[in-house]
Amino acid sequence: MEASANYIRYSENIEVKQPDEEAISQKIVDSMARVNRLMYEKYRHAIRDAHAKSHGILKGELKIYDNLPEHLAQGLFSQPKTYPVIIRYSTAQGSIVPDKMSAFRGMAIKIIGVEGEKLLPDLANALTQDFLLVNYPVIPTGTIKEYLKMQEGLEKQADSGELFQKIEQQVAVGVQNVLAAVGLADDTNELSAPGPHILGDTYFSMAAIRYGDYVAKINVKPLSENVKEVSGKKIDKEEIEADENAFLTKLIADFFKSNTAEFEMSAQLCTNLEIMPVEDGSVQWPEEQSPYQPIAKLTILPQITFSPERRVYADDVLSFNPFHCLPEHRPLGNIMRVRKLAYETSSRYRHHMNAQPRVEPVGIDELPD
Ligand code: HEM
Repeated sequence: MEASANYIRYSENIEVKQPDEEAISQKIVDSMARVNRLMYEKYRHAIRDAHAKSHGILKGELKIYDNLPEHLAQGLFSQPKTYPVIIRYSTAQGSIVPDKMSAFRGMAIKIIGVEGEKLLPDLANALTQDFLLVNYPVIPTGTIKEYLKMQEGLEKQADSGELFQKIEQQVAVGVQNVLAAVGLADDTNELSAPGPHILGDTYFSMAAIRYGDYVAKINVKPLSENVKEVSGKKIDKEEIEADENAFLTKLIADFFKSNTAEFEMSAQLCTNLEIMPVEDGSVQWPEEQSPYQPIAKLTILPQITFSPERRVYADDVLSFNPFHCLPEHRPLGNIMRVRKLAYETSSRYRHHMNAQPRVEPVGIDELPD
């Protein structure tokens, strides 16, 4: 797309507060916290309200491309620098379930060495910035109203223990099958298929963020041939059956025993707020209207991706939070705004109950081998 394209300029008026927004948001956060306390009682260890199970914790490097045109050289991407990053791959459930229960996958990226004051007052001076991505272009429950319906259904069943039985019975598929399990969605769609290779997926911000002077969604997709090759590749049934609990963890560990992988980060800029809304994260922004445009390359060298030390550091010590960012990358829209309190509440409880410090690394060496 030409640099002269009609990119919508960011202004505070882009966001529109929804009716009863505070009350609905509070209900979502309270309900998540109650389910999370049940999980604590189940494990006698506090886990994340969502994306509780990690599958790999990796160190890598994010290289912001040189000579980006003005509309892409924004915020973090305005300088062609290379940053160390920590990546945490996860699956979406707020409980620890076997990997064969295919689910939305998460890719959380913590960029280290980012100068400038950050959005959250508690982390204003941290040298990090987070991006949280999921392997689906939209969030099906794209407004807080829809999300609350899903969350309340989930809590009702979690309380009675039924949800977990149902999920186990039907080999649930993350959010979509949670929705199905609580009667809010059909479980016959494509997401119900056993998930493909976790490293071949494209991961999306799902909802919008501020992109400096503009508004964007972000994605990260396979770039080197070895990860392009496994994109969409179904995992053999035998491989799943051989290690039902941890085949995703093993896929990542086996791959990075000897391979280097490259991924590309891109931004899709909003050109029309009617067709590409920020207040409904369930609407896919058409790529014919505005394509994803490359902004940075992520390189991951061979390494051990799931040592006990790394897992404990990533699961119990670290937090990833979409609002932990430069003000130029503020998350936008009601489904994003509710995340501010949701992540804070989840992280605070987890750190408190596990008696762990909440740390923002200042250097990549803090990630244990
Ligand atoms: C809009 C798109 C969304 C994306 C792309 C997304 C992605 C993610 C990812 C990747 C993680 C794992 C982070 C990690 O590895 O530490 C995560 C965790 C979490 N998500 Fe989301 N999420 C989204 C929406 C939401 C919404 C709407 C809520 C609730 C209102 C929510 C609540 C949480 C919570 C509570 C955690 C755990 C935080 C912690 O304890 O540190 N997410 N999310």
